[in-house]
Amino acid sequence: MTRILTGMQSSGTPHLGNYFGMMKQTIELQNEGKNECFYFIADLHSFTTQRDPEEFKKNQETCVLDWLSLGVDPKKSVFYRQSDIRAHTELTWLLLCQTPMGLLERAHSYKDKKAKGLEANSGLFTYPVLMAADILLYSANKVPVGKDQKQHVEMARDIAQKFNNHYGETFVLPEPQVLKDVETIPGLDGQKMSKSYGNTIEIFADEAVLKKKIMSIKTDSVPLGKSLDPKKCLVFRFHELFQNPNLKELEAKYKKGTIGYGDSKKQLFDLIWEHFKPARETKAKLAQDSKLVEKILKEGAEKANKIAEQKLAEVREKMGLTSKHLV
Ligand code: TRP
Repeated sequence: MTRILTGMQSSGTPHLGNYFGMMKQTIELQNEGKNECFYFIADLHSFTTQRDPEEFKKNQETCVLDWLSLGVDPKKSVFYRQSDIRAHTELTWLLLCQTPMGLLERAHSYKDKKAKGLEANSGLFTYPVLMAADILLYSANKVPVGKDQKQHVEMARDIAQKFNNHYGETFVLPEPQVLKDVETIPGLDGQKMSKSYGNTIEIFADEAVLKKKIMSIKTDSVPLGKSLDPKKCLVFRFHELFQNPNLKELEAKYKKGTIGYGDSKKQLFDLIWEHFKPARETKAKLAQDSKLVEKILKEGAEKANKIAEQKLAEVREKMGLTSKHLV
């Protein structure tokens, strides 16, 4: 069985770009049933950019609910919070001491973030090493990630290789599995959907907000009654992404000019609202049941911790760290 592992950053509300880019595919990998999946909330990573404890907590809790309601199933996957497993931070230090500065200096993501003016704290710089610890502790074979994270997984592999060469076979070498690029998901204005462009559609937006956003998707000014080109229409692109069952008819109506953008948007709203209905309901239920969420997190942490502690003990031993006087 292939062991798959991936982390989800807990920063902010997920939007359709996140959903099609990563979330949907991650959940499908779990549901294929032929993989052993480890999915965790990478909350420690968020400290590189978040420092307000209240906001941090809120994001972390919301992220747990988002993933559970969109389909991560704790019966099928080991689901946990990175910060619950102490071994991640300990292994990070041990790996930092094997990691050349030059390797980290080459990280695109660090360079990009720095270029954007983000404060370059050491956490941001050593981010890939914490990520390597996340991966190597669980002997993951495959790490599904978006294109932007591929280099980080390759770095984890380099660090593992270096460790193995020096201390003997210890870590499984992980491979990045770049999630298929569902083309770029367009935002309200047609540019790539991204928080930094302010053009996002949030998965769990309230009805009124969602409606307003969908009605504001940019369209051209072809007048009502004239033929519309579905290929050039952002609204139509979303109908495709959400697999509108009446896509063919809709296309015909576009071409004949028997539907206007306003109507197409109304239908799109209904489609999206229905699509996320089960997730919305689950999320509302979980939000009312903190005991259940805690139980899920506790069980996940216990399973993860066992595996992580075992690997960490092996690493400590190989490095010459023993604590016999403590036993
Ligand atoms: N850095 C990843 C992201 O921003 C999240 C992440 C943290 C991760 N640790 C990981 C992904 C380990 C895969 C494996 O999306």
